[in-house]
Amino acid sequence: MTRHATIIGTGSYLPETVMTNKDFERIVETSDEWIVSRTGISSRHVVAEGETTSDLAARAAQIAMDRAGVTAEDIDMLFVGTTSPDHIMPSTACGTQAKLGLKCPAVDLMAACSSWIYGLQCAAGLIESGRADTVLVIGAEALTRLLDFTDRSTCVLFGDGAGAVVLQASESRGVESVVLGADGSGGEQLIIPAGGAAHPVTTADIEAHDQFVKMNGSEVFKFAVRVIPRATKEALAKSGHELSELRWLIPHQANQRIIATIEERLGLDDEHVYMNLATTGNTSAASIPLALDDLYTSGRLAPGDLLALVGFGAGLTWGAAVVRWTMAAPNREA
Ligand code: ACO
Repeated sequence: MTRHATIIGTGSYLPETVMTNKDFERIVETSDEWIVSRTGISSRHVVAEGETTSDLAARAAQIAMDRAGVTAEDIDMLFVGTTSPDHIMPSTACGTQAKLGLKCPAVDLMAACSSWIYGLQCAAGLIESGRADTVLVIGAEALTRLLDFTDRSTCVLFGDGAGAVVLQASESRGVESVVLGADGSGGEQLIIPAGGAAHPVTTADIEAHDQFVKMNGSEVFKFAVRVIPRATKEALAKSGHELSELRWLIPHQANQRIIATIEERLGLDDEHVYMNLATTGNTSAASIPLALDDLYTSGRLAPGDLLALVGFGAGLTWGAAVVRWTMAAPNREA
């Protein structure tokens, strides 16, 4: 039999604390009107004191595992996509593995907002080759900890959260194709300048706020609307499908205007493009699995639906996956 990888469980978790655009009006010179009109974001969730990326990851993953009907012993491999790791070492995946009581190998993937799609490709490859039967792929972020809350051009954009899927070997096609890309020459466009081994944090860095996210917003915007329509078409062609067959395009939830431009360039309509960024903000690596879980739990995915999951982010990196949905709607779950 040809082995395929199919999503058999999804889960997500958002921290309890919500920060609205009005809250930002008290911190930086901004307005609800500016943030909503330029980004589509109204509020975002923010980690509590002491809450970590691996805490969010473990909560989302446990839901996905319960829904999939698998136990800790069943998971053969864990990938955690994150840009806001608990530590540089040990990995957030190892912290998550311990919290979930898993026994399997665990590793972080760092491709910024594309990390989860990179994880999906790794998981599908292991399953299709027979090296693993069941793989957990999480996207999790406590990115608000790495934001400069005096920089209005970045601090209003991001939020915290986690999304997870369990993939398992199947006879029918689930993950049909994945297209990944990277252009390291654009690394400066979206960067945390200080804090890595190339540039350990100094007092001068702290004064310049260089331990936080810096972004050239308009360059990232242009990059996203250039690569995503192309990658989506490539992934569809690779799996032998037409755009007209897509039930949902589930894009990385960075900015409503980026998503609207991608939608227009692909010739899709609102009925086929999912957005939840109004209440999550940009949750980076968590955004696509979070959106997928939202769609699933709200009963808007049916077995047989064809999905394109697409992401872009720092690196620069991008990815597009075409997935045939197989899970029964939640209200029909046993
Ligand atoms: N409130 C009020 N004014 C603001 C704010 C704010 N929060 N932020 C910026 N402005 C001002 C700017 O200072 C500028 O003022 P000026 O004209 O006096 O200089 C003006 O608004 C316009 O700024 P632009 O940067 O041109 O605004 P733009 O319409 O391009 O929107 C944005 C900025 C939202 C950042 C947009 O460029 C964007 O979304 N880019 C992509 C970002 C993205 O997707 N990043 C995530 C990638 S994923 C990852 O890997 C983490």
